[in-house]
Amino acid sequence: MKALIITSPFIPWALGYPGLDHTIAKLQARHGSPLQSRSTELLGDLQDNNALTAVGSEIKAILQGASAVADGSTYTPPAALASAACTQSTLCIWSHIIGDLSTAFTDCTALARGAIRQGFHDAATWDRDSAYGGADGSLLLSDDELARPENRGLEDIAAQTKAWHGRYAGYNISMADLVQTAAVTATVSCPGGPRIRHFVGRKDDGRPGPTGKLPLPEQDAQTLIDLFAAKTFTADGLVALVGAHTVARQRFVDPGRYDAPQDSTPAVWDSAFYAQTLGGDNETGVLIFHSDWSISGHEATKERFGEFAGAGGMGVWGPAYAQAYFRMSLLGVGNLNYLTEITQALPLPR
Ligand code: HEM
Repeated sequence: MKALIITSPFIPWALGYPGLDHTIAKLQARHGSPLQSRSTELLGDLQDNNALTAVGSEIKAILQGASAVADGSTYTPPAALASAACTQSTLCIWSHIIGDLSTAFTDCTALARGAIRQGFHDAATWDRDSAYGGADGSLLLSDDELARPENRGLEDIAAQTKAWHGRYAGYNISMADLVQTAAVTATVSCPGGPRIRHFVGRKDDGRPGPTGKLPLPEQDAQTLIDLFAAKTFTADGLVALVGAHTVARQRFVDPGRYDAPQDSTPAVWDSAFYAQTLGGDNETGVLIFHSDWSISGHEATKERFGEFAGAGGMGVWGPAYAQAYFRMSLLGVGNLNYLTEITQALPLPR
């Protein structure tokens, strides 16, 4: 198909047709169009305009282009967690929990890095063909899922998250929310990390998530573009998401280089990952995954990869990551109209 005529990167006329939007995203990914942008596809129960609640409209607006970066509003819990005043407020309960999480994550600790990856691995078992899966807590609720080879390395953060879940079990919180709240709290706890708008109210599902949905470091860009397209991400969204490797260290890709980082500043959320992956120096300290290297050079992704790597890259990547991760944290969630926003309880960016 040579004549793919699309004149706007934001394709507004496709907004009313989520299926069409998805088809275009797939075509653009396959044909290496320079007109990539983020996905606007709706998720869960947001398709029916007549059933939209106020919170559903907010989430819909973000999925379709409003910024996912939080403003500077903060919240101080007015009462102790166990008090009647606090237990009646979702924001108050989560504010106490987030205080606990941030203590463990401040300055981008190993637990923070694990929490970011854990949030991704719980959510990304979902794609359009899945009858279940997604951000449902199953990664930690099912021993089978956690034991899968692709989840190696998550043991410490999984044990810590289960301990938090036990501590707050009396406050009616889901594991699914705890996993995603830990991911966004960890992101903003890394110096430079964006503060991503965040909602809770996800339902747990103890069934092990569908298999074969998570990416592998030996996969090529086209396989990864297709894998993420099935989860409603454009190729641009994929490029933004893999930037999380700015705070990564590997153990199992090359065990001989245990703990080797994916950029030279693994405790800082910066765009050095993009420049250093393009630089291709896999010998002196940094270990570049084949998957990241392949994405950096593919027709459909190299332009955006270069933009994030270049001068001013941080300014465009931060909001792009926030947008893409906001979407990730809602994959497979069927009750988006009934979530509660708790963004104000998140720490401010460092
Ligand atoms: C192209 C898709 C991706 C592939 C193939 C991939 C693969 C990997 C691998 C192999 C590791 C190292 C595991 C180990 O040996 O310890 C890793 C680490 C990590 N990944 Fe990814 N990943 C991908 C996308 C993502 C995304 C979308 C996120 C977050 C949104 C993410 C966040 C992380 C983080 C934070 C770490 C570091 C964990 C730690 O230091 O404990 N990755 N990834």
